Amino acid sequence: MSLDQASELRRLVSQGDRAAGKGKPARVLAITSGKGGVGKSNVAVNLAARLATMGRRVVLMDADLGMANADVLANVTAKANLAHVVAGRRRLDEAICEGPGGFRLVPGASGLAQMANLSEFERARMVELMRHLDASADLIIIDTGAGLSPNVLSFVLAADEAVVVTTPEPTAITDAYAMVKTISRRKECATVNLLVNMARDRAEGRRVFERINAVGRRFLGLSLRDAGCVLADPKVAHAVRQRKPFVLDDPDCPASLCITQLAHKIDRHASAPRAKGFIRRMANWLAG
Ligand SMILES: Nc1ncnc2c1ncn2[C@@H]1O[C@H](COP(=O)(O)OP(=O)(O)OP(=O)(O)O)[C@@H](O)[C@H]1O
Ligand SMILES: [Mg+2]
Repeated sequence: MSLDQASELRRLVSQGDRAAGKGKPARVLAITSGKGGVGKSNVAVNLAARLATMGRRVVLMDADLGMANADVLANVTAKANLAHVVAGRRRLDEAICEGPGGFRLVPGASGLAQMANLSEFERARMVELMRHLDASADLIIIDTGAGLSPNVLSFVLAADEAVVVTTPEPTAITDAYAMVKTISRRKECATVNLLVNMARDRAEGRRVFERINAVGRRFLGLSLRDAGCVLADPKVAHAVRQRKPFVLDDPDCPASLCITQLAHKIDRHASAPRAKGFIRRMANWLAG
């Protein structure tokens, strides 16, 4: 992208900020992980549903561009997805669906070109999309794919906070640490939360947190924020088969109680001041 194009993009974005007419940009949480299959999408969908039932305006953006599935978990059939919008084939309002509990979902796209390779037009569409989300939500939750790919990192680094999800398995712990390390190297003063999913009990969750936090402190000089744990619960798989968030299906099951606790924790931090809006950071990144 040329310098001219980059400044045009920034101009577009600042216009959007003014048009939105709000001093307080949406808070953006990126839910991510090193290893795949640790429960990011389930956490993201259930957290979105829970926060929505608490009266927050929540948008869940499925940014897994390889194997998007938040729409499947939320039992939403989308007429359009992120790829259609970015390509200019559909309007954003055609891609936003109402999810269970009242959150809004921007379904992801399987097979969208690598973000780094998007055309100039596609980049501009992406900024337009972000601008709209920023103006109409209290909280944007991004469900990313797993691993240290540029796509995942772009969203994680543009977000206000990362929630790195791990399980107690040694392989997941190692990969979570690699993700924490990458974030801390690429972004000074990053706020990184660690969530231990599928813990046998809270003590196990706590042990995993302490272990990763101790290594992070020693070698990266970074203190992780403890997002707590989500207990391993057969209700999760059951709810996936029913295509209904477990927090709505069975609000009192162990996994639901953990998500509720996490939702309150996130809500308590909601008033923390933020320097820049998400779209602004995203635009800076998009503009290279
Ligand atoms: N707390 C839990 N208790 C029991 N099973 C769980 C729990 N959380 C997730 N699972 C199961 O783990 C599997 C993977 O979950 P999910 O798809 O949310 O992971 P993911 O991290 O989003 O995967 P990917 O990296 O492929 O995007 C699902 O089959 C789900 O049922
Ligand atoms: Mg997923």
